[in-house]
Amino acid sequence: MLDTNGNYRGYVAETYDIWWNGDTFFDTQFYKRLMDEVPGMALEIGCGTGRLLLPYLSEGYEVEGVDCSDEMLDSCRKKAAEKDLSPVLYRQYMQELDLPKKYSTIFIPLASFMLVADRNEAMQALSKLYAHLEEGGQVIIPLFIPQNANKKEWTAAHSGKRHDGSDILVSSTSSIHLHEQVQTKIERYEIIQGHSLVETKFYTMKLRWYYKYEFTMMLEKFGFHDISIYGGYDGQPMNDDQTFFIFRARKQHG
Ligand SMILES: C[S@@+](CC[C@H](N)C(=O)[O-])C[C@H]1O[C@@H](n2cnc3c(N)ncnc32)[C@H](O)[C@@H]1O
Repeated sequence: MLDTNGNYRGYVAETYDIWWNGDTFFDTQFYKRLMDEVPGMALEIGCGTGRLLLPYLSEGYEVEGVDCSDEMLDSCRKKAAEKDLSPVLYRQYMQELDLPKKYSTIFIPLASFMLVADRNEAMQALSKLYAHLEEGGQVIIPLFIPQNANKKEWTAAHSGKRHDGSDILVSSTSSIHLHEQVQTKIERYEIIQGHSLVETKFYTMKLRWYYKYEFTMMLEKFGFHDISIYGGYDGQPMNDDQTFFIFRARKQHG
């Protein structure tokens, strides 16, 4: 049984769209540009509540979605119905991906590949991605190296209003396991009604980070080639100061 790392359920799933509300985001154009360059069916892994998937479908892109969280997928389906969209969604873990189709583009936004915190499972996920690509297809995998992530204190991350009018306050703390390249992040969700704290819930997530040569070798190990590393959503090559970067790699034509 695989772990649902990140706990994209409970308050995390319920509040996701409070923090990510809208139709256009900093990464929206980027994936569209890359899908345009390699036309064909696309797959968003870790599609969540459809932040990107639903606007892409509205615009006529052929994109399907995979996520391991029932609650995130339920929310995606509900929003899709309101927009008269019928997305093809699969409830699967990327490390066990087993779909009836192959895709021209597979993308994993918001660095969700890092949620596969176990090294062997991450390798397994890459082999599944490769197997689900058409010849000449591309994967797009954003990653980051955590900065200042060894914090003892709790830092307020964001706050918002829930559907019942109560307030929600999210704080986080984090630690790193340097040579394992794993960050453990704990998020605390506090529900406040009036002036009373009525509930506190904690969620733990582990994120595995990678360095550029390491991840390049991992991709090569599974047969990927034409590997590019962008330093951001403007698609410019990564420079040495950047700790957020986006891998793009292709499956060879047969
Ligand atoms: C940060 S959210 C991103 C959601 C969406 N892609 C977006 O950009 O708004 C991460 C999503 O990845 C999903 N996820 C986490 N681990 C996963 C795994 N191993 N396989 C498939 N989905 C996973 C979570 O359930 C969650 O919906």
